[in-house]
Amino acid sequence: MTAQILDGKRIAGEIREDVAKAVAVFVADGAPAPCLAAVLVGEDPASQVYVRNKSRACEKAGIQGRTHRLPADAGQDELMSLVEELNTDANVNGILVQLPLPTDAAVKYDEREILDAIDPLKDVDAFSPVNVGLLMQGRPRFLPCTPHGIVQLLSRSNLSIAGKNVCVVGRSDIVGKPMAMMLAQKTGSCGPEFANATVTIAHSRTTDLAAVCRDADCLIAAVGQPEMITGDMIKPGAIVIDVGINRVGEKLVGDVAFDEAKEIASAITPVPGGVGPLTIAMLLHNTLAAAKLQSGR
Ligand code: GUN
Repeated sequence: MTAQILDGKRIAGEIREDVAKAVAVFVADGAPAPCLAAVLVGEDPASQVYVRNKSRACEKAGIQGRTHRLPADAGQDELMSLVEELNTDANVNGILVQLPLPTDAAVKYDEREILDAIDPLKDVDAFSPVNVGLLMQGRPRFLPCTPHGIVQLLSRSNLSIAGKNVCVVGRSDIVGKPMAMMLAQKTGSCGPEFANATVTIAHSRTTDLAAVCRDADCLIAAVGQPEMITGDMIKPGAIVIDVGINRVGEKLVGDVAFDEAKEIASAITPVPGGVGPLTIAMLLHNTLAAAKLQSGR
């Protein structure tokens, strides 16, 4: 079997067009253009690229994309002050502090304290405890961008996962945990066919990871380990979603050994061009949602 390649880039393009149209309607109704403030601390090359891409995508959708840059050694207090300033700035609808914060600077950052300080109504990443709690209870305000992008990808590719075994490999706050929660719920942003899964969360301490993965009708790899999911860990005909973006020399590779996996899976996301573009599309969606919430429209 050769798997269907799930074109995340194309699907993200459709979502971005939908958001751009909805932004135009919102603005035509008299509202100011939504505004996303991204905060970039330090010079990490990958983070610089991500933030630049987010800002460009905003502008294309009619959203104002601001970038606030701080030097790596700015320190916790200066970063907290900037977050406070953005919280109270009525022109800013969404705040995103690009992660990871520098770990090699002379100063140390308390990431949790920074994320907790973001006004939950402007928390377009959906990282704040309030927004995580609302998601957990099945009444989300904002959905975290990468897991939401994956649900959109499944839905727009007509790949129902209701009643199926889904294995999420990785338990991060950004992807693994919210992904598992969203897929286990009775319904979600794309309806019950793209929820209601029997979800397993696997991680570095899972006994016989290969066997757990092989039991999955849908395998979602979000561990950040280049090509660690090999062909023998995939059930024939499974859907494989690769969240990893790992730089190996000059090349970007996922968490899944793509060439092996595509011969076993029924559908698979490539890296690049799979999940990555969806994260940005859903960020635009959340920024418009935040602007609507704040304006009461
Ligand atoms: N770093 C990697 N992914 C993300 C993300 O989704 N949001 C933020 N703020 N930082 C990230």
